[in-house]
Amino acid sequence: MPPPGATARRRCQAPLPIPLPRVELPARFPSMTQHVTPAARLRGRVDLPADKSIAHRAALLAALADGTSHLVDYPSAADPQSTLACLRRLGVAIEPRGDLLQVQGVGLEGLHPPDGPLDCGNSGTTMRLLAGILAGQTFDTTLVGDASLSRRPMQRIAHPLAAMGARLDLTDGHAPIHIRGGRRLHGIEYPLPVPSAQVKSCVLLAGLFAEGETTVIETLPSRDHTERMLGLSAIDVDGRRYLSVEGGRRIAARTWMIPRDFSAAAFFLVAGAIVPDAEIHLPGVGLNPSRSALLDVLRAMGANITVKSERTRGGEPIADLAVSTSELRGVSVGGAIVPNLIDEIPILAVAAACAAGRTEIRDAGELRVKETDRLAAMATNLRALGARVEEHEDGLVIEGGRPLHGAEVDSFDDHRIAMAMGVAGLVAEGTTTVHDADCARISFPGFWTALERLREG
Ligand code: S3P
Repeated sequence: MPPPGATARRRCQAPLPIPLPRVELPARFPSMTQHVTPAARLRGRVDLPADKSIAHRAALLAALADGTSHLVDYPSAADPQSTLACLRRLGVAIEPRGDLLQVQGVGLEGLHPPDGPLDCGNSGTTMRLLAGILAGQTFDTTLVGDASLSRRPMQRIAHPLAAMGARLDLTDGHAPIHIRGGRRLHGIEYPLPVPSAQVKSCVLLAGLFAEGETTVIETLPSRDHTERMLGLSAIDVDGRRYLSVEGGRRIAARTWMIPRDFSAAAFFLVAGAIVPDAEIHLPGVGLNPSRSALLDVLRAMGANITVKSERTRGGEPIADLAVSTSELRGVSVGGAIVPNLIDEIPILAVAAACAAGRTEIRDAGELRVKETDRLAAMATNLRALGARVEEHEDGLVIEGGRPLHGAEVDSFDDHRIAMAMGVAGLVAEGTTTVHDADCARISFPGFWTALERLREG
């Protein structure tokens, strides 16, 4: 990698308009209502699903590898399954082999044109990472998603990809995304305007298909799975992190072991801390520091969490976690830590509502462009349960410790909102009804059963 700044920076240009094919949006989830009553105790162990972020990347890299790869513990959750479905449509053979998934890598040049639009479902990671790969293909593709994904901003990937020479056409800044094939991509140096692992990964994956070197510069580091899995080394200069990939770099076939998802563990870490007589064990959870900042925050709030048998799995740190009933107190969260707990903020807000004193969550404006506006959703739902919540453009201020009471709340078709409210219902007097709760299957198909079992434990 040349010294930072040595690569010529190319100016980003707006993509030219391309007439778009009409695409029907897939239907939303079947409606399912979940009733949650207070838990007197929670005991037992939860075998969490494998990490969704790592799973997407393992599938994509296995598809682009030279030779046959295996994925161990690939999750059955809807989002990672969307990635597999798209790859299959691109001609990648993916078959179960016992407990493993076997992926016949096609190399960098071997993807096939799909016979229609690729459906990314609810998965932003599928859409944004795949767009990086598809920008470097010889054929045209169209990416579509469900209603929620079709509202999420895509200019953030179209902009750097256009600067690399790709031609993408968005629909008012959103999906459907039409990607023109046959473009010659060239490396760029791209300072990330938002701390987003999806944008970072999109650009680095496009860099595999570009001439020369592509460098992404982060000032607020986000999850680092892509660079770990591609074996890229980062250079830190003056608070900036430079990550470079050489165009044409081959990807070796291998076995990818996928650790259990810290983001799924987060719901049980909070449940175990706030329910009166609780002790929950969570074995083999991924503890990548770029993902696990909630652990430090919960501990700072007074949560009794133990971390045992620290080891690595598939190049990622993991450990066995246990949590028990705790007296929580409020905390301030903001700044550089936020990208490292971005998906955990809805459940952190539940912990805050149960903590003594005030919790301030700032610098989290990115939550407004997730599967739903998660700041608005959590403010609305926690207020419905009786919590005192101030909503700010970039965060929430919660005066904790008020008794919560059951109410009807909406998941807003967002898996993390549904699960966060399921946990809140464990400590709210009466019944909490979570509407459209089935969306938990986006990341955690067995969530409601796992929560119920802990009551019986
Ligand atoms: C993800 C990155 C995060 C996160 C999302 C998964 C990833 O999004 O919210 O759930 O796997 O790269 P951003 O990168 O857009 O913040």
